[in-house]
Amino acid sequence: MSSKKRIAVIPGDGIGKDVIPQAVRVMQAAGAAVDLTLFDWGADRYLADKTTVPPDGFTMLARDFDAILAGAFGDPRVPSNIHAKEILLGMRFKMDLYANVRPVRLMDASLCPLKGVEPKDVDFVVIRENTEGVYGDLGGVFKQGTLDEIAIQEDVNTRKGVERIVRYAFEYCANQRKLDGSPRGRVLMCDKSNAMTHAGGLWQRVFKEVAAEYPKIETEHMYVDALCMQMVREPRPFDVIVTNNMFGDIITDLAAGLHGGLGMAASGNLHPGKTSMFEPVHGSAPPIAGKNIANPFGAILTAAMMLAHLGMKTAAEKIEGAVLEAVRQKKTTPDLGGTLGTREAGEWVAEKSSRR
Ligand code: NAD
Ligand code: IPM
Ligand code: MN
Repeated sequence: MSSKKRIAVIPGDGIGKDVIPQAVRVMQAAGAAVDLTLFDWGADRYLADKTTVPPDGFTMLARDFDAILAGAFGDPRVPSNIHAKEILLGMRFKMDLYANVRPVRLMDASLCPLKGVEPKDVDFVVIRENTEGVYGDLGGVFKQGTLDEIAIQEDVNTRKGVERIVRYAFEYCANQRKLDGSPRGRVLMCDKSNAMTHAGGLWQRVFKEVAAEYPKIETEHMYVDALCMQMVREPRPFDVIVTNNMFGDIITDLAAGLHGGLGMAASGNLHPGKTSMFEPVHGSAPPIAGKNIANPFGAILTAAMMLAHLGMKTAAEKIEGAVLEAVRQKKTTPDLGGTLGTREAGEWVAEKSSRR
């Protein structure tokens, strides 16, 4: 039997189709022992035959693969966004990938819009709850199209869901180190419990209870509005941030702005022991799709994160080192100040990864 890890590759839509091939070539150049299977799930397939996820698609992914590498989903030809919801949110919800881990790491001072901020100053992670909150599609509309129309979007927070994501954040803090090798030491919980008292109350209680089990880890709380301000004024103190699904979505785009923009941000959708899914934080960026200008580094760093998760630390380090080198030498796409195309930036990193 092959010892290679089985990876399902789903490029999806828009720039997903530009950047994922680069992530694939870099993994191969770095010598990662992976066996790749390509899936055409996305807008083109949906428009052709109305399939979003084939029958038993999630069961098949969980059974036949060690991990999934996805691009992005979203296409102007599908205004309902139904395929993206069923594929992307489907994987997160139906495969119960409850922890969305989004590292925020500044590789080079030139990538940060803040004055005087060095790479060591921005090295934190957002642990986003990924299966509940306002994303559950619970609610409905009443008297649609009339002046009395009512739209209700429920915010679901379960004891089990909140506890497992908070615990995940404490475990991450206890076990993961910063890039410079120093230990992590602080978990910050972000909510809006001054206004959303029911959900916030549950998060507050659970956070205190779980924190008591980790006496060596410092804790802190911030309302999400204040956190946004702090993130752009003074990002240095952030370490591990845990928050709900929607706040996590918003603050990770904001945080991406601290380390080079959406083109640099990686993420993993995890459930320890289950087949997990890895995707860049960015979307399908339709205006720049197919033009060979999208930054492939977020997807490439996502592939490295996946390899590290699967135990291939050497290949992951080769890839991260090669991206760091590319950033320092400005072998990048225009969003990072370079002159390379998507393919050329991918090729440069692949070449470097193969030599390291
Ligand atoms: P987006 O992330 O696609 O783009 C936001 C901005 O960042 C745009 O200016 C875009 O050009 C830029 N950008 C994003 N990735 C880049 C890259 N790799 N290189 C250079 N520039 C990059 O977000 P959006 O415009 O709000 O959404 C577009 C579509 O993507 C929508 O359909 C949305 O629902 C979907 N979306 C999907 C995902 C996902 O599948 N994970 C995530 C976010 C948005
Ligand atoms: C993300 C995206 C998704 C989300 C969208 C496409 C539903 O913005 O992965 O950050 O909101 O989770
Ligand atoms: Mn988002």
